[in-house]
Amino acid sequence: MKVKIDGKELNFNKKITILNAARSIGIDIPSLCYDDRLSPYGSCRLCLVNIKNKGIVTSCNTYIDDGMEIETENEEINKLRVENLKLLLHKYPKGYDKKYADKRFHELIKKYGLEAKIESEDTKLIDSTHPLIYVNMNRCINCYNCVRACEDIVGKLVWRSVNRGYNTLVIAEGNKLGNSSCISCRMCIDVCPSGAIEDSILIKNVYPQRWIDSTCSTCSIACPVKIGLSNNDPSLVKLDDKKLKYATDCLLGEYHWEDTYYSIERIYYPLIRAENNFLKTNYDHAINYLASNIKDIISKYGPDKIGFLVANRLTMEEYYVLQKLGRDVIKTNNIGSNLDICFKDDLNNLLNSIGFVHSSIALDKLDESKVVFVVGEIDRYHPALSSIIRKISLQGKTSLIVIDSLNSNKPIHNASDIYINVDESTMARIFKYINYLLIKENRYDREYINNIENLNSYYKKIENEIKNKEDLIPIYEKLDAIFRLISENKPITFIVELNNDNELSKEIINTYLLSNNSKLNNKIIPLFGSCDLIDSLYMGVSNKFEPGLKPSNKTGLDGLSIIEKAEKGEIKGLIVVGNSLLNSNLYREKILKALKRVDFIAQITPKFDIVAKYYAKLIIPSPTSLEKDGHYLSIDMKIRKSNKAIDNGIKQEFNIFNEISKSLNGFYYKSNEEVWNEIGSINEYLNNILINKFKGGYLLI
Ligand code: SF4
Ligand code: SF4
Ligand code: FES
Repeated sequence: MKVKIDGKELNFNKKITILNAARSIGIDIPSLCYDDRLSPYGSCRLCLVNIKNKGIVTSCNTYIDDGMEIETENEEINKLRVENLKLLLHKYPKGYDKKYADKRFHELIKKYGLEAKIESEDTKLIDSTHPLIYVNMNRCINCYNCVRACEDIVGKLVWRSVNRGYNTLVIAEGNKLGNSSCISCRMCIDVCPSGAIEDSILIKNVYPQRWIDSTCSTCSIACPVKIGLSNNDPSLVKLDDKKLKYATDCLLGEYHWEDTYYSIERIYYPLIRAENNFLKTNYDHAINYLASNIKDIISKYGPDKIGFLVANRLTMEEYYVLQKLGRDVIKTNNIGSNLDICFKDDLNNLLNSIGFVHSSIALDKLDESKVVFVVGEIDRYHPALSSIIRKISLQGKTSLIVIDSLNSNKPIHNASDIYINVDESTMARIFKYINYLLIKENRYDREYINNIENLNSYYKKIENEIKNKEDLIPIYEKLDAIFRLISENKPITFIVELNNDNELSKEIINTYLLSNNSKLNNKIIPLFGSCDLIDSLYMGVSNKFEPGLKPSNKTGLDGLSIIEKAEKGEIKGLIVVGNSLLNSNLYREKILKALKRVDFIAQITPKFDIVAKYYAKLIIPSPTSLEKDGHYLSIDMKIRKSNKAIDNGIKQEFNIFNEISKSLNGFYYKSNEEVWNEIGSINEYLNNILINKFKGGYLLI
């Protein structure tokens, strides 16, 4: 499809809005009620453009057509934009446009030479009943982004509009947000362009005076962030979209840190369990106490009765020192994590077929994919990646397929070209059907499949399994469209939010292998929900691999096997790192049973959880990501620096492991840098194996 925007000829593969077509070449048409997480609405009338022979239209809800010639600025358009902005300013109170200058509305007011002038505010429209969200509807410009986001994305009906015309008001259910059914997701803050709905922390504190460049450790995307400090307290975390293209929307990254940082369960000093409560102690005593318990267990039962379970994301240096403490000092190879507890089957499928579990494409190259094929609930655990994919799809060069089993609308659905929503039990069958077509129509890559001799038996097996399946009948048309799209367009990037469904992960991996048409073509990004700790695996937190994914020749247990042995009373000492061990719904009961049977549990954690409250004999406090220096490894193997924004004396895990080692007469690093230099040689090794890894894979039958 050919169009001309401001005289520039452009080609698009699919119909997208004029607004997004312009954005794809860096023309930012003014907009207020458009947000790519929501369907276009067309109320603010700022995104006006002129179409030759047609006239002025709103570009957020008008789609490009072949031969269209579009003008995004001219005198008439600008005049209309100014008029429309003046209408939006009719009750907007003075001062806020200067105070919160980076709000979209305020940027536009400034750009068009306007100013908020209304002197008085209606106090009835101010609502501070919600502990986290401050509402001042004097600043509302009636874009309804909040109403739509809360209903369409979050599935709640907190906001609604009353009255008409100039008297229109957006109000919360029950008139006060604090009394409503709000679940505090803060999506409405994120989509409000005018500051009518705002973060209470930001209102109470002054706007950040200082910003620290750092990295978000909430999920494996490891987005670069800026941490805003107001009077030395963190008040705002923003994704740094200059460093990671397109990743602008992530409520997890913006707010998840508060759950731990401001938690009333936060721990600031080590605690030793006494009869009915905990006794406070200091780090030196706690570390010696831990070391002496380890020595006792080793002398009574041997080192293989001790295990490590990592349940929170750590820096690369910390993972490295932890596994070295286990392997070299304590001499146990029982090193596991939430990843191999919650996703053991998926992990094994990936390792047994393609040999890696990280992303085989750099995220900033994702826009080179012709097709992005998303499977699963990506908006829940990896919203930043969803944001990247959405924005790429809306640029009109990449087709987006989404398959999930959700029963609610998510931002990514709006941007998809083919969306299939099915029951979980149908998911694996969908991929069997696609694989069946790829083989039947001879659209697969022989060279990419290392065990091609098994192809016939696989084909017969899936042919039987998809025959006459009623759940596929209503979606045949869409499945055929997917088959055509992935046969005819390369490269494809598969983005898969796994959920430890053995059959499903096998079939998706098979689709990835079969749909290649030449080596190194398609890409895959495996994601592991809230247990997405693949970086721990690459740094040797695993019984199978030493740092750099080098196979370990020592025997040892993975996370789930540690739990299973502990259930039988065969693990005597457990070191739990983090506060998310009970994240797995599937194994929760099993883990609780296991914890009861371990003689000595030490937990290194930033806050109390069930493990700390009921099972740990020793609790050593650790910092949140805002209080850490070090490096994180992202899903696409990028090393990102984390800089300590707050220094409150809480020891980093790196120091804790280092000092435990010293107490046990093992290694002692003088600094984080010393560890980092040692990791340097592993990075080279890692890079080499990464390049050599993409050599096809084994069909999983
Ligand atoms: S409160 Fe904000 S998001 Fe909601 S309608 Fe008003 S300006 Fe729009
Ligand atoms: S915070 Fe979430 S649930 Fe609450 S009103 Fe806003 S969008 Fe709705
Ligand atoms: S952005 Fe198009 S009408 Fe508001």
